[in-house]
Amino acid sequence: MFTRKSAEWFCASACVALAAAGCAAQRSADAPQAAYGGGKLNLGTAPGSAEMARYFSYPADGRALPPGSGTYADGAKVYQAKCVACHGAKLEGTKLGDKLIGGRGTLVNNSPAKAPVKTVESYWPYATTLFDYVKRAMPFNAPGSLSDQELYAVVAYILGEANIVAKNEVINASTLPKVQMPNRNGFVSPDPRPDVP
Ligand code: HEC
Repeated sequence: MFTRKSAEWFCASACVALAAAGCAAQRSADAPQAAYGGGKLNLGTAPGSAEMARYFSYPADGRALPPGSGTYADGAKVYQAKCVACHGAKLEGTKLGDKLIGGRGTLVNNSPAKAPVKTVESYWPYATTLFDYVKRAMPFNAPGSLSDQELYAVVAYILGEANIVAKNEVINASTLPKVQMPNRNGFVSPDPRPDVP
């Protein structure tokens, strides 16, 4: 709990840390780097391959997507076990998780009565983002827990339910980047608004 006492303690230790940092800055200006172990601060450890595997980002062209593959049928099982509770049996969303499909064609319309419905199907421009996002963030209660095989499968399932790919399509590192998302051309670049630099 953040009590007055802990606030005082925090302030006291932060002030000491700041004073030490100020002191270090002063010294490094005066003394040669060699005085600090060959110019290194000797903090932390070199990351191993398991740790590095947690840092990933898959661009639209699918570079560095991992090996593995999945189908709609495999993905249906993953979805039922790990996603349905929050995203609903028809991917329609619940109080706990977003609607994942539907809403195509609702983003651009001039009717104030028709709110845009943003989903993976209607909004996301790249299918690789779906893999990247689910790998990084889902299931919401256990992010990072799915294998790449499960990920390809659940992605195939969502894309199949959205009628973006055929239900017999195999999704893998080479097929995923080729998927044409419905809103692929709904984004403009560079930004044409005059007030945006
Ligand atoms: C415990 C509830 C929960 C579970 C289980 C869960 N999700 Fe989610 N999901 C969420 C929530 C909450 C969000 C919104 C997160 C946010 O906006 O930061 C979300 C967002 C998403 C989105 C982004 C939707 C959008 O349009 O922004 C996708 C895709 C998704 N989840 C897929 C999955 C998949 C696939 C699974 C199963 C492997 C799964 N989720 C399991 C709660 C859950």
